[in-house]
Amino acid sequence: MKTRTPISVYIAVMIGLTILAFEMFASDSNYFSSPFFWGLMLIAIILLFIMNSIGDLVENENFKKLSEEEKAKFLEEKKVPYFQKLWNSAFKKQSATEEKDILIDHGFDGITELDNSLPKWWLGLFWFGFIFCAIYMAAFAFTDYAHPEAELTKETKTMLASIAEYEKTAPKVDLETAKYSADNIAEGQELFKTNCVSCHAEGGKGGIGPNLTDTHWINVKEKSLFKNVFWMLENGSENNPTMRPFIKDGTITGRDAEKIAAYIYHINQETAPITPAQGGAAPQGEEVKWENGND
Ligand code: HEC
Repeated sequence: MKTRTPISVYIAVMIGLTILAFEMFASDSNYFSSPFFWGLMLIAIILLFIMNSIGDLVENENFKKLSEEEKAKFLEEKKVPYFQKLWNSAFKKQSATEEKDILIDHGFDGITELDNSLPKWWLGLFWFGFIFCAIYMAAFAFTDYAHPEAELTKETKTMLASIAEYEKTAPKVDLETAKYSADNIAEGQELFKTNCVSCHAEGGKGGIGPNLTDTHWINVKEKSLFKNVFWMLENGSENNPTMRPFIKDGTITGRDAEKIAAYIYHINQETAPITPAQGGAAPQGEEVKWENGND
C-alpha cells in the first residue's frame, strides 16, 4: 500500500493554482480584498479536508487487510517525510534484485531496458505544464490576459484621464500667462514632431507651411515672436485654414503650446535660419523685427 500525499501539499498547490487563475483572469480586480476570493479559498480548503478524511478512512480499512509484515513496512515508509520521499524517488537507484523485477524481456547486444516508473518530479512538471497550458489558453482566449494591445489601450486611457485631471486643476496657460523658458525647448521639439512636422518640415524649415526659422512672417499679431507663435496656435491663420487653431480645436493644450512656442523661438532666434540653399522654404510675408525679446 502506498503512503499518501499530505494535505498541506494539496493546500499549497490549490492556493498556488487559484492565485495563478485569478492573476490571469482578473489580475486588476484587486482580488486579494474580495470576499469571493477568500470564500472560494475557504470552500476549497474545506473540500480538501473532507477529501483527506475520506482518504484516512479508506487507508484505515485497507491497513486492516494487510499482513503483519506489510503493516510494519507501511508504517516504516510513513515515517519518512514526504519531501524526503520525493527526493529519494527522483534519484532512486534500484538494487540488483529490484532491477530483475522490472527488466523488460528484450535486449540487444547485451543492452537491456528497465520498466522504470516516471520520476515524481517529472510527473509533477508534466501536470503543472498541462494545467498551466489549459488555464493560459482559456485566459488568452476569453480575457485580455497577455494581450499587449489591450494593456496599452488601458494604460493610455488611465494616462489620458490623469492628464485631464491635472489639466483641470493646474493653472491655465493662455496668451497672457504663457512664458518662454529654455527648459521647454526639448519637450517643445517633441510636440513639434508630432503635430507640426507634416507641414513645417524637419526643424521648421518649411514645406506646406512657411519656413519658421527665417525673418519673414505672414502673420504678425503680437510684438514678440514667442507670443506671435502662441497666438497662431490659439487662433490659426485667418487667411489659410490649413493652419488650424490647434488650442481652440482641442488638439493641444495651452501648456503644450507654451513648449512648442519656446522651441520655435529657439530655432528662429537662437540658431541660424535654414535658408533655401540649405533646403529651407523661401521666405514668405514681410520681414519682421520683433520688438520684445522672448516674452
Ligand atoms: C496641415 C498643415 C499645417 C500644420 C499641421 C501646421 N501648420 Fe502652421 N502653418 C501652415 C500654413 C499653410 C501656414 C501659413 C498660413 C498663412 O498663410 O497665413 C502656417 C503658418 C504657421 C505660422 C505662422 C507663420 C507665418 O509666417 O505667419 C506658425 C507660427 C505656425 N504655422 C506654427 C505651427 C505649429 C507650431 C504647428 C504645430 C502645432 C503647425 N504650425 C502645424 C500649415 C500647417
